[in-house]
Amino acid sequence: MEETSPSPFFLLLLLLLLLLPLSMAASDYDTFVQCLSNQSIPQNQISTIVYAQNNPSFTTILQSYIRNRRFATAATPKPLIIITPLYETHVQAAVLCSKLTGKQLKIRSGGHDYDGLSYVTAAGVPFIILDTFNLRSISLDTTTNTAWVQSGATLGELYFKIASISKTHGFPAGACSTVAVGGHLGCGGYGNMLRKYGLSVDNVLDARIVDVNGRVLDRKAMGEDLFWAVAGGGAASFAVVLSYKIMLVPVPETVTVFRVEKTLEQNATDIVYRWQFVANKTDNDLFVRLLIQPIVNKQTGKKTIRTSFISLFLGDSNRLMTVMNRDFPELGLQKQDCMEMSWIQSALYWANFDPNNSTNVLLDRTYAATFSKRKSDYLQTPISKVGLESIWNKMMELGKTGFVFNPYGGRMGEIPAAATPFPHRAGNIFKIQYSLNWDEEGVAAENQNLNQVRELYSFMTPFVSKFPRESFLCYRDVDIGITQNGKDSYSEGKVFGEKYFKGNFDRLVKVKTMVDPQNFFRNEQSIPPFSSKK
Ligand SMILES: Cc1cc2nc3c(=O)[nH]c(=O)nc-3n(C[C@H](O)[C@H](O)[C@H](O)COP(=O)(O)OP(=O)(O)OC[C@H]3O[C@@H](n4cnc5c(N)ncnc54)[C@H](O)[C@@H]3O)c2cc1C
Ligand SMILES: *[C@@H]1O[C@H](CO)[C@@H](O)[C@H](O)[C@H]1NC(C)=O
Ligand SMILES: *[C@@H]1O[C@H](CO)[C@@H](O)[C@H](O)[C@H]1NC(C)=O
Ligand SMILES: *[C@@H]1O[C@H](CO)[C@@H](O)[C@H](O)[C@H]1NC(C)=O
Ligand SMILES: *[C@@H]1O[C@H](CO)[C@@H](O)[C@H](O)[C@H]1NC(C)=O
Ligand SMILES: *[C@@H]1O[C@H](CO)[C@@H](O)[C@H](O)[C@H]1NC(C)=O
Repeated sequence: MEETSPSPFFLLLLLLLLLLPLSMAASDYDTFVQCLSNQSIPQNQISTIVYAQNNPSFTTILQSYIRNRRFATAATPKPLIIITPLYETHVQAAVLCSKLTGKQLKIRSGGHDYDGLSYVTAAGVPFIILDTFNLRSISLDTTTNTAWVQSGATLGELYFKIASISKTHGFPAGACSTVAVGGHLGCGGYGNMLRKYGLSVDNVLDARIVDVNGRVLDRKAMGEDLFWAVAGGGAASFAVVLSYKIMLVPVPETVTVFRVEKTLEQNATDIVYRWQFVANKTDNDLFVRLLIQPIVNKQTGKKTIRTSFISLFLGDSNRLMTVMNRDFPELGLQKQDCMEMSWIQSALYWANFDPNNSTNVLLDRTYAATFSKRKSDYLQTPISKVGLESIWNKMMELGKTGFVFNPYGGRMGEIPAAATPFPHRAGNIFKIQYSLNWDEEGVAAENQNLNQVRELYSFMTPFVSKFPRESFLCYRDVDIGITQNGKDSYSEGKVFGEKYFKGNFDRLVKVKTMVDPQNFFRNEQSIPPFSSKK
């Protein structure tokens, strides 16, 4: 026994080795806190907004806004520090002190980034998270039909607030109530009113940001180029957005929703084929999303494809029936499929709540995260029936990956491609989201599931946009290219940048070069400055 027990000296050495990373982290923390203090942030505020790894609340704070379990594992790289500003001055200080300590700054609002770029970096890159969840005030001005919304407010909170003052105002943004304004408006943002009113960023009037020098700037102070970039160009490449000023849009007192499902046995192929010729051309008040999922038919026990047509119509059910009978009789919509309700109830319905439930459910920030992967594509040419059948077969073979087809046209076809950084405007029939969620833990399951989505993406190549194959920034997908820890070159960024932004990529690079030539604001898919050209 004696001879096998380790010597006290060895124990001490072990202890020192164990403490070494902690003490290094402690010194990063000390420098950061000292810097905040130098920026005139009072000590009592610092202690409530700064979380080091050894703070008992660190893990809870980190996990509360992770919406994809792929990035909530023991192996997921963790930040050195999380800072949760209460005031704009805290954001200014956080930017300056991250710069001073030479740490990468990740900016998180609602944490819905599909590949976790708001709170994860590559292994070994020390980083700090600035989380805006406390900055969530919304102030509405009914005389001008505008609102200032802080980045940490969720879409659910925004819709709730609008409905609390008016039955006839709305805002065109995403369906999921826990998505936050900061990331959503930064990447463009769309929802079920995009055919009528365009994207969220088509309805942004102003923004308040903290720039790389820690200054608070509004649209006038930052200038039109930077304002253009932060409203749809991926704001995290340029600044921390404190708040956006948005324009509210009119909605009727009564809107109508429906959901109609058709399997292959119910002629889904013919109906989907027809949908492609009407979805982007029908009345702008009508949005018919198409969900496509491989399933097992309960009656026959055989695999099939279930297509679900889910709609928002900005009008009553009589007018909806007239539009549907004229443009899309193939779906066979019946009056009893239609549910009339208020716009805010339709927001509940589209967020998968019972529309009769209290609108308070929109304020709930809890989110049941699964492991997930998303990818995107754009369609400019209808797919033939033979093509659709080959896609169904591939989906049934792969097993689980689904599609969401979101129709464009209407207002989307009228806004010039360079008006905002988002370029996918006229000429598109619909955007595809590839969608897969899973619950099995572990790397093997992850690889298997990721491969399934990638295989379907590869199968779709002949049907979708080319040169470049376009992608939607809000559907973040690191498979289409990344830059290496900010030591990126223009050419690395161009690979994914042209897919997300097409011809607008070069203007984004120019803005980046002008406002942040040292590339402080960076992530794996940020806009590179020219100066980092290798
Ligand atoms: C369940 C779910 C449903 C979704 N539904 C829709 C939908 O209907 N329509 C749609 O368009 N998109 C949708 N999305 C995508 C969503 O719009 C984007 O993921 C969006 O970026 C999320 O914003 P966030 O603040 O919640 O995410 P975050 O992960 O916090 O941020 C996303 C990106 O924005 C940056 N960012 C965040 N806050 C700021 C800030 N204050 N200043 C500067 N940069 C910032 C982050 O650094 C990161 O790069 C959905 C995503 C999920 C997970
Ligand atoms: C804080 O200010 C003091 C006094 O000016 C200075 O010596 C110190 O280096 C500063 N520390 C940081 C981390 O900014
Ligand atoms: C499917 O289409 C065929 C041929 O057009 C038609 O005879 C049949 O009734 C349709 N089936 C359903 C369920 O609509
Ligand atoms: C909501 O309530 C109305 C009126 O009671 C009812 O007609 C409707 O079916 C309900 N909707 C749902 C989805 O339960
Ligand atoms: C209303 O929503 C709450 C919270 O999601 C849920 O617990 C409750 O069951 C819902 N009630 C109805 C009638 O759907
Ligand atoms: C709708 O799709 C067709 C292709 O079917 C395309 O030619 C047309 O430009 C699209 N319309 C708009 C407004 O984008």
